[in-house]
Amino acid sequence: MAAISNLGYAVFGVSDLAAWERFAVDLMGFQAGRREDGRLLALRMDDREQRVVLERGDEDDLRAAGWQFDTEDDLAAFVTGVRAQGVAVEACSSDLARARRVERLYSLDDPNGFRHELFFGPAIARAADPFRSSVMKGPGFLTGPLGIGHLLPRANDYAATVKFYREVLGLKISDYIREELGPGMVADATFFHTATGRHHSLATAGFPSPKILNHLMVEVQDMDDVGLAYDRCVKAGCTIMLELGHHPNDRMFSFYVRTPSGFAIEIGWGGIVVDDANWQVITYDKMSDWGHKRNQPRIAATASSSSQG
Ligand SMILES: [Fe+2]
Repeated sequence: MAAISNLGYAVFGVSDLAAWERFAVDLMGFQAGRREDGRLLALRMDDREQRVVLERGDEDDLRAAGWQFDTEDDLAAFVTGVRAQGVAVEACSSDLARARRVERLYSLDDPNGFRHELFFGPAIARAADPFRSSVMKGPGFLTGPLGIGHLLPRANDYAATVKFYREVLGLKISDYIREELGPGMVADATFFHTATGRHHSLATAGFPSPKILNHLMVEVQDMDDVGLAYDRCVKAGCTIMLELGHHPNDRMFSFYVRTPSGFAIEIGWGGIVVDDANWQVITYDKMSDWGHKRNQPRIAATASSSSQG
């Protein structure tokens, strides 16, 4: 059956493109790609023309996730299957496909109003213009068949959202984490992988949030690039939302930094890849096996240091 290959791109609506360019290029290690003055900046992570697209907008949130299919036939069969379930899928204009730098594009909305785009045929940058990060020590981001990383959007209706990701998007469950944070307070998250097996390309949880997106995770090939990014972010005065730590399920060593849009980027190293032939779905009882200490925003921490938890 035709299945999503990987998470190929993400699109954000951001209010401050200049702040994002400094953050993404000078701190995170992305490369600035094509730009439309004051309207759009594309970020590169590898040989693709664009992997993260920043569009000028006031919502400071996720606009779309781009799910890649390996062939045109896979994409067509998948769209037919989704429509057969009674779910509306829109064929996008060739102008939008060109803007996304893909050959063909469809879109559908999930129960949270989060837009999913389905594509095949991404554009590769000119050979004369290989990916180069101005700050990374190692060879760069870990992408290729594993895609750009993962997204954690909120779920308004957790059960309906999990059902949609499984049955409509056809994603496979990697595992669950249910952590008791306090009496009667349980953090409950479900993790999903695509055909190429990055531990999760999408996770969701039923937390209250004005934004759709909690975080985007990107992974680097050299562990030192996590530490070096951490040092750059601290020096630049960024808010570290979760300190360095390690997740028990995807085994990612990472930290979370606040982007200029308020949601976080998790930058990590060492994530595992799921082999469906030998995979057992299990439930963990904590989000992190060490670290990932949660920081209050720096202004609040100065006003009341006892509120740190
Ligand atoms: Fe994550």
